[in-house]
Amino acid sequence: MSNVTVIGTQWGDEGKGKIVDWLASRADVVVRFQGGHNAGHTLVVGDQVYKLSLLPSGLVRGKVGVIGNGVVVDPQALLSEIDRVSAQGLKVTPETLRIAENVPLILPVHGAVDRAREAARGDRKIGTTGRGIGPAYEDKVARRAIRLCDLTEPDTLDWKLDELLLHHNTLLAGLGAPTFTKEELKAYLAEIAPKVLPFMAPVWEILEEERSRKSKILFEGAQAVMLDVDHGTYPYVTSSNTVASNAGVGSGMGPAAAGFVLGIAKAYTTRVGEGPFPSELHDETGRLLGERGHEFGTVTGRPRRCGWFDAALVRYAVRVGGVSGIALTKLDVLDGLKEISICVGYELDGKTITRFPAAPGAQKRVRPVFETVEGWEGSTQGARRWADLPAEAIKYVRRIEELIGAPVTLLSTSPERDDTILMKDPFDS
Ligand code: IMP
Repeated sequence: MSNVTVIGTQWGDEGKGKIVDWLASRADVVVRFQGGHNAGHTLVVGDQVYKLSLLPSGLVRGKVGVIGNGVVVDPQALLSEIDRVSAQGLKVTPETLRIAENVPLILPVHGAVDRAREAARGDRKIGTTGRGIGPAYEDKVARRAIRLCDLTEPDTLDWKLDELLLHHNTLLAGLGAPTFTKEELKAYLAEIAPKVLPFMAPVWEILEEERSRKSKILFEGAQAVMLDVDHGTYPYVTSSNTVASNAGVGSGMGPAAAGFVLGIAKAYTTRVGEGPFPSELHDETGRLLGERGHEFGTVTGRPRRCGWFDAALVRYAVRVGGVSGIALTKLDVLDGLKEISICVGYELDGKTITRFPAAPGAQKRVRPVFETVEGWEGSTQGARRWADLPAEAIKYVRRIEELIGAPVTLLSTSPERDDTILMKDPFDS
């Protein structure tokens, strides 16, 4: 099976957009298997800049895009995104976009609960995108989610809305926020149903057909391993499994679906939202990385926190994420720095450890242990061959490989699609 799964290995925003776009141009089908419109990908194709949140990136390359059951879909956000990219000349039709029948929907009540809860958390807020992702996933496991297929059955919808509102209105009232009526949600869904239902499809069957045709299937992960609900810096995480093992579950394919797992890692580290970040820099260098790397959230526009590459963390992400090879991005942001630090472990309560602890208190208390390497004078920007890179830059990449225990199979040296050094084609594995 020549499938490829792309996942982030840090806290998201590793530059997946460019890599996914490059791979999508070579794939037959592109599948989203988790997350929702909390994700943000910017794709530059010719003179057009596409900002995608929910739509699979392959659509931009004229490929079939699949939204699997593991995603949570806000139908209003989906329709707005379709309108936006259609105005840019892209064709999104029921032939090119297929959405799983069993995908859970994000309704206006979910965003309201998300925001009201964040406000109530005060200092302990998670820093969510406020888009209702968490409450929608909670409804899924609590067995009260409204799924896309429910829009075809008014009777089912009727009793499911009662159950949904009983839960959420109780919560909203308790938090002092406005509640919702069944009538308003019914009217909202009645207007939206005829626009989204044409995209509904038995995705598991479509993917089975693609598999038997030996199509190249690309699974496009959103967020990253350190935001995974099980393996990330809980509770400062998103509400889905971002690891590659979820590709099969979130699309209706078996456990072998993932194929080659390409983990994306930035040559330094960033994070948006709250939560632990041991190698974070609060100084001039941190500010410089943010400025040079244009580190502002695609979805919320929030400035990203910046720090040195955390090799201990990425080594962990490689293991739990099932990563086969790494695509290292934004190396050029480090150009010209005299010295570069790499976090190789942590100090916790007077002891040196190499493994990031699981408990939130310990995650907050750890202090980074840095190894410092020489920077480089020349530029790595736009390099397309190893020979174009300064010797110290190559050394830096080799040291990272050693520390994380995975090969760097792709190096991205600028936002341009062709400024890439490819060591191994993931589709040929
Ligand atoms: P939620 O996914 O909106 O519930 O947010 C939970 C956490 O995940 C917050 O810290 C967000 O900033 C973070 N997050 C969610 N989506 C992304 C993303 O695409 N990139 C980076 N961080 C994200």
